[in-house]
Amino acid sequence: MTNDFKQNVFQGRSVLAEKDFTAAELEYLVDFGLHLKALKKAGIPHHYLEGKNIALLFEKSSTRTRSAFTTAAIDLGAHPEYLGQNDIQLGKKESTSDTAKVLGSMFDGIEFRGFKQSDAEILARDSGVPVWNGLTDEWHPTQMLADFMTIKENFGKIKGLTLTFMGDGRNNVAHSLLVTGAILGVNVHIVSPKVLFPSDEIQNLAKKFAAESGAELLITDDLDEGMKRSNIVYTDVWVSMGENNWKQRIDELLPYQVNMAALKKTGTPDDQLIFMHCLPAFHNTDTQYGKEIKEKYGLSEMEVTDEVFTSKYGRQFEEAENRMHSIKAMMAATLGNLFISRV
Ligand code: CP
Ligand code: NVA
Repeated sequence: MTNDFKQNVFQGRSVLAEKDFTAAELEYLVDFGLHLKALKKAGIPHHYLEGKNIALLFEKSSTRTRSAFTTAAIDLGAHPEYLGQNDIQLGKKESTSDTAKVLGSMFDGIEFRGFKQSDAEILARDSGVPVWNGLTDEWHPTQMLADFMTIKENFGKIKGLTLTFMGDGRNNVAHSLLVTGAILGVNVHIVSPKVLFPSDEIQNLAKKFAAESGAELLITDDLDEGMKRSNIVYTDVWVSMGENNWKQRIDELLPYQVNMAALKKTGTPDDQLIFMHCLPAFHNTDTQYGKEIKEKYGLSEMEVTDEVFTSKYGRQFEEAENRMHSIKAMMAATLGNLFISRV
């Protein structure tokens, strides 16, 4: 009898960046997330990771990613352990490589959120267990699984849709949307000022995938052209974690705010148009940053207006919930010795 487990293309793999996965593999994880969501809603147990220990390494703050990994691990029967920036020796007294060896000897899987993509790569190389990238300065792959799961829920399909990201085209979320969309055959528009266009390296990587999938990519500073025919209008904070250049970003990005006038430029019928945001969002002054920005620059909303955020187009909270279901799918597929006959 053959060992069917060998056919599981995910078992033991790390998830560091979307470019390492085929369209079929990403679609499988999206569909598995939808399946696990149905099981969760029906109250059907799915303890695929019984007895496993999961390390959650966070160099940066998090609400969704931390909560999603924690609850997903518990639902799968695993034990998650949060190791925050000030809890362990990493980066101060101990190298990433040494930390990887120690954690890999005790944990069965490691989530890493941090600054450098190279740290995620070193952890994966030296720990001997799957490492899941919970966001670095370069990529946010677990966000993509939730995002395309949300898109599939809303449109019943992924390929052939048009997703427009408006904002800082050089940030992790913009990179991930451009490359993942290109892999999956989604037309991706990045609309930003020229100084914030994705680097040539990222654009070339996306173009390579688009040539295979048939996705049409557009990088433009022209709002009218960029918004046209969009099904999904997506934005993210103008100042990412680790940055502090508020004034510069406001000056660069205010014309690229997602507001009702921008949505209208899509020309897309209402039932074919949604708004997405990975969150947290700056859409009112109910936060400390919100109050400070209002005081200093007179702005009470930044990347998205409160009107759009609270409108019928908004899917950001469904998207946030889907972080848990999709992270669960990813952890179970890469660590659960599941029978996955083909992808
Ligand atoms: N979208 C996202 O990654 O949210 P957190 O920073 O709260 O984890
Ligand atoms: N670009 C943002 C994403 C937060 C989920 C950041 O890195 O802060």
